[in-house]
Amino acid sequence: MAAAPAAGLFLSFEGIDGAGKSTQARRLADHLRCLGRSVVLTREPGGSPGAEEIRRLLVEGAPGRWSAETELLLFTAARRDHLERTIAPALAEGRVVITDRFADSTRVYQGAVRGDLRALTDRLHAEMIGLEPRLTFILDMEPGPALRRGRARGGTEDRFEEMGQEFQTSLRAGFRALAAGFPDRCRLIDAARPAEAIAAEIAAMAAEVLG
Ligand code: TMP
Repeated sequence: MAAAPAAGLFLSFEGIDGAGKSTQARRLADHLRCLGRSVVLTREPGGSPGAEEIRRLLVEGAPGRWSAETELLLFTAARRDHLERTIAPALAEGRVVITDRFADSTRVYQGAVRGDLRALTDRLHAEMIGLEPRLTFILDMEPGPALRRGRARGGTEDRFEEMGQEFQTSLRAGFRALAAGFPDRCRLIDAARPAEAIAAEIAAMAAEVLG
């Protein structure tokens, strides 16, 4: 897809499992709605009916269920549907779209940590997605407490958490490297602070691009 219609504002949240992305994405959405903006809060994998079906294949079941290559294709398929059905139409209407994870997760999880697939990840992204957020908030914290928080949520969506703490440590390094590689777009956020302080910092950063 060529770069999607970008009348609206596209923002993403990224980071290791349990870093508090969903909470902060929700808080930013609430804050922007209070300011009178029309906001779509969405997530990956998922964010459209078809992509939510693909989500179940990816986040449930045994860690070894898919290879990194198969995951790359499934995540990209889910993202394409999310883009076509949810993100692009909302941006075309001039809305703010906030997504809990986007292509940076694929760059780090499949491209750098699960496999050495970064070049292929970038090619697929260019051919099939072709859209980057205006700003990406990367929530950064120690994997230990993050993993405990993630596991405390329970449920069946633990396939990546079951890959262990060393895996999460490599992911953290991957996200930090990504933030350094895209300094214009990515903001590294210290997520080991009270939620209010994190939310205030993110709201101030978002204000700079809201116009
Ligand atoms: P969530 O728990 O943040 O909803 O995300 C589900 C899991 O999927 C999480 O462990 C990260 C992983 N993931 C990838 O490995 N690659 C991707 O492209 C995305 C979007 C998520």
